[in-house]
Amino acid sequence: MRPVLEPPTCLLVLGAGEPWESTAVESGRPGSGLVVVKRCIDLTDLLATASSGQAQVAVVAAGADGLDRQAVEHLHQVGVRVVVVLAAEGPEHLAERGRLAGVDLLLPAAQITELGARLQALRPPTELTRSPEPAPRRAPGAAPAVAVWGPQGAPGRTTIALGLAGALAARGADPLLLDLDPAGGTVAQHLGVLDDVSGLLAASRRLSDGDLAGSFVALQRRVAGFRLLTGLPRGERWTEVAAGLAPELLALGRRQGPVVADLGSSIEDDAAAGYTGRAGRYDLTREALADADRLVVVGTADPVGLTRLARALGELRELRADVVPTVVVNRVRRSLGWDAAQLRALVTSWAPGTEPILVPEARSTLDRAMVAGRSVAELGDGELSRAFEAVTCALLPEIPRAPRAGIRLRRAGRARRR
Ligand SMILES: Nc1ncnc2c1ncn2[C@@H]1O[C@H](COP(=O)(O)OP(=O)(O)OP(=O)(O)O)[C@@H](O)[C@H]1O
Ligand SMILES: [Mg+2]
Repeated sequence: MRPVLEPPTCLLVLGAGEPWESTAVESGRPGSGLVVVKRCIDLTDLLATASSGQAQVAVVAAGADGLDRQAVEHLHQVGVRVVVVLAAEGPEHLAERGRLAGVDLLLPAAQITELGARLQALRPPTELTRSPEPAPRRAPGAAPAVAVWGPQGAPGRTTIALGLAGALAARGADPLLLDLDPAGGTVAQHLGVLDDVSGLLAASRRLSDGDLAGSFVALQRRVAGFRLLTGLPRGERWTEVAAGLAPELLALGRRQGPVVADLGSSIEDDAAAGYTGRAGRYDLTREALADADRLVVVGTADPVGLTRLARALGELRELRADVVPTVVVNRVRRSLGWDAAQLRALVTSWAPGTEPILVPEARSTLDRAMVAGRSVAELGDGELSRAFEAVTCALLPEIPRAPRAGIRLRRAGRARRR
């Protein structure tokens, strides 16, 4: 038999237990022009092997775990064409066509013996369709996106993000709060939202299907006067978050109004993830920090919290040297023995150019907000709501302050109770 393809085409096969797998492997018999270089155990194995440049074609079962548009794009980027084998030709596979958009060949399992001939008909790799260039992230006139970050030790990132969203809502700015903590979302719990449908996971699936923009508004829910995209129900589900999701969410959010993103603490770079084209655990945080227009760094006022804050500011400079963050020193209380001037001087020495904002310890106010599932701004004027106002003014001075918003809301609350 004459060689079908010249030079031999190297294949990776991921059959995921489908009966056609052995036939696909046999297609690499001598003289066929095909060589099966590896039967992969899962998609991560396939993506990593493809990244090493050993193959030109991946033959993958449509039902392989994790196979989505992002995986197909990664294979294309490393010069590998993608053949997806459909278990059966039926209406259910038509629904999959969106998920599998961009694959080079959809092959019904019944036609697996024709694999060699069908590969010949494929376009050469140089003509592969690449994803269109992404739209510019910040359209002129778009609202700003704020990332709220801080070191480990629960310094109050979520509390400050909620305070900021509440203060913006009180100004009538209709903010969107994104819960982007890869360790597991807590914004919903702070607000007493009890169903565990994850807006973030739904958004990730839509991104993989190429339909995030169309469904973005429907994924949000309105709570405590602002729009919310809920986070991960459990930390271990970070693996389901698509790479590049955070910048997409920020870009779509900016079109509607100001965006506040509540982030996790670690910004460790997972270098190994790059080989698979998949997101590393902390990429959600890193991507949001890298893409946001304004940054808030939260630390606590105690000695451990301040040491961590100093380190965090150093780490952040490596990622975003171009932005001077707004530093929030949270849980300030007399019993620690620092006065406000000392705290400010300390923080400014670590982060020149910043004017840190001090937020008081206010356990009972936060308890009341949490029990009622409301923002602190909705509870009315008070020390904590004034501190959140100060954070908002420092960070987003262009968004006008509503006159005596707290008092107006308190009166409205009283009227409701009557
Ligand atoms: N100013 C404050 N006064 C009193 N308690 C506070 C204050 N800020 C935060 N807290 C409390 O500290 C705890 C941790 O706060 P929060 O959940 O905002 O931290 P985080 O940095 O988001 O932590 P995590 O790592 O869990 O995401 C919560 O119980 C919160 O109510
Ligand atoms: Mg948090």
